[in-house]
Amino acid sequence: MILELISNSPEETQQLGHKIGGLLKPGDWIGLTGELGAGKTCLTQGIAQGAGVAASVPVTSPTFIIHQTYPGRIDLYHLDLYRLSSFEELHEIGYLELVTGDGACVVEWFEKIKEAVPDQGLVISLEIVDEKERSISVSGIGKRGGDLVGGLKELLYPSTG
Ligand SMILES: Nc1ncnc2c1ncn2[C@@H]1O[C@H](COP(=O)(O)OP(=O)(O)OP(=O)(O)O)[C@@H](O)[C@H]1O
Ligand SMILES: [Mg+2]
Repeated sequence: MILELISNSPEETQQLGHKIGGLLKPGDWIGLTGELGAGKTCLTQGIAQGAGVAASVPVTSPTFIIHQTYPGRIDLYHLDLYRLSSFEELHEIGYLELVTGDGACVVEWFEKIKEAVPDQGLVISLEIVDEKERSISVSGIGKRGGDLVGGLKELLYPSTG
């Protein structure tokens, strides 16, 4: 199941993230793809809010840190693999422990580790249309991914009756 969406502002992208974050359960995994400045971190900020991370916790992609944990309703593990130099480095940062941990994972530039994509979760691709517009596609992987897309669809377009 795939949802195709348009965002017209950073706030709209964060609101979408907020909805996704509210659906997350321990063990969930989200891969984000899109060029520099597409809005992956912006979406992650909303996901963090929705996962119950305090608004005072800064959600950024710092230059030399590949992984950060934000405590929330469930812990959110935020990874940015842009600077990942080798697949082995994934083991060094404890990726396998994170994926099987009690929190949910959000992975920017996940396409660098296609080999390590789980069989359940969401893949969200962001494309720059123009300065403020982003085309966002949300696809589910496996049963849990389908449930998440279904849950998001219900939040975006509540069925009447
Ligand atoms: N509709 C939109 N959604 C998200 N961001 C937007 C939108 N319109 C403009 N922007 C701007 O685009 C930029 C997105 O930056 P962000 O850091 O989220 O991108 P990124 O995909 O994480 O990039 P990087 O690969 O460098 O980490 C921000 O400056 C934001 O204000
Ligand atoms: Mg980023």
